[in-house]
Amino acid sequence: MSGLEASHVAEAFASNFVAPVGPQLDAFEHAVNDYLGGGLHCVGLSSGSASLHLALRIAGVGPSDEVWISSMTFAGGIFPVNYLGATPRFFDLSPQSWTIDTAILAEELARANHENRLPKAILPTDLYGQSVDLDALERLATKYGVRLIVDSAESLGSEYGRGRKAGTGGDAAILSFNGNKIITTSGGGMLVTRHRDWATKARFLATQARDEAPHYEHSTYGYNYRLSNICAAIGLGQMRVLDERANRRRAIFARYRTALSRPGIVFMPEPKGYRSSRWLTVISIDPDITGVSREDVRLKLLDHSIEARPVWKPMHLQPLYAGSNYHGVGFDERLFETGLCLPSGSDMSDLQQDEVLFHICALFDDSSQMNGDLG
Ligand SMILES: Cc1ncc(COP(=O)(O)O)c(C=O)c1O
Repeated sequence: MSGLEASHVAEAFASNFVAPVGPQLDAFEHAVNDYLGGGLHCVGLSSGSASLHLALRIAGVGPSDEVWISSMTFAGGIFPVNYLGATPRFFDLSPQSWTIDTAILAEELARANHENRLPKAILPTDLYGQSVDLDALERLATKYGVRLIVDSAESLGSEYGRGRKAGTGGDAAILSFNGNKIITTSGGGMLVTRHRDWATKARFLATQARDEAPHYEHSTYGYNYRLSNICAAIGLGQMRVLDERANRRRAIFARYRTALSRPGIVFMPEPKGYRSSRWLTVISIDPDITGVSREDVRLKLLDHSIEARPVWKPMHLQPLYAGSNYHGVGFDERLFETGLCLPSGSDMSDLQQDEVLFHICALFDDSSQMNGDLG
């Protein structure tokens, strides 16, 4: 917490808006819109997954449709496709950005167009703080007349290029304020859209789809998905420190890169013009070059009660999605074998980071010494 949240929460209590409506919720939506550059419509919701569920439903996704998606993503970024009975088709990452490979996507869209089987929506994921290639994706979506929903749950605080912020892409982008994200409302999310009617529809569906009437009247079904005014009050305090948090994460990344620069270790690349928040610092470790595997590092850190996690397991490798269509060359599969998310919390001190680095460097030094001895 920044220390600013408690006063916003106190204001919410004082006004008695302890509900999924209220001035703090309105102010939080405005603050996010301003941060993203304005001119958008922001709807505060109970989670990133709820935001995605609404975006897909408003895009018209249903049981006979396909949604094309980055395979390497978190479960909450795909399960809403299942809620709507649609079928996912998975895409590999580009080695240049570690986000969806737009060349492979373009090829498959052209083929699908020819065969009259275009998807209803494309759902690329901003990965670990890095925006997808919005220009290329928006061009493709327009060319083929498909909806583009960008999963920006991990990228608030990042820039795509030329000053454009992550979270502003496509027909809609979704944000997450889950406890592990760069800013949090304890739990929460947001739908960000350039379409006014999408925002109106999201507010309607998120509050149990109540038609205009003095009694309760429903012509469709809805959800209880609106963000609580109390959680929004926390978010208001967090927005004041968002850039500070992103800068801290970038500084943590820079220290890791300086200390761990050696043959066989690759950091998540940042394409020219992009500015990742480095929500998490992600590395890939080539065991053939370093003599150390991703698991060696993870387990060594775990021995010292330090948590590091493998990158997301690609969804086409998950038992749930066995037999699904996948387009790619297996870059994401190899990254899953070698990729590790290092501790990256904004509140991590330099001393704590030094401890992480000490254990990792010791492993690499032992290994090179052993290789030297053997040599
Ligand atoms: C890529 C991605 N998509 C979607 C979500 C879902 O957000 P939430 O946890 O707020 O439902 C998350 C994170 O939690 C995520 O990392």
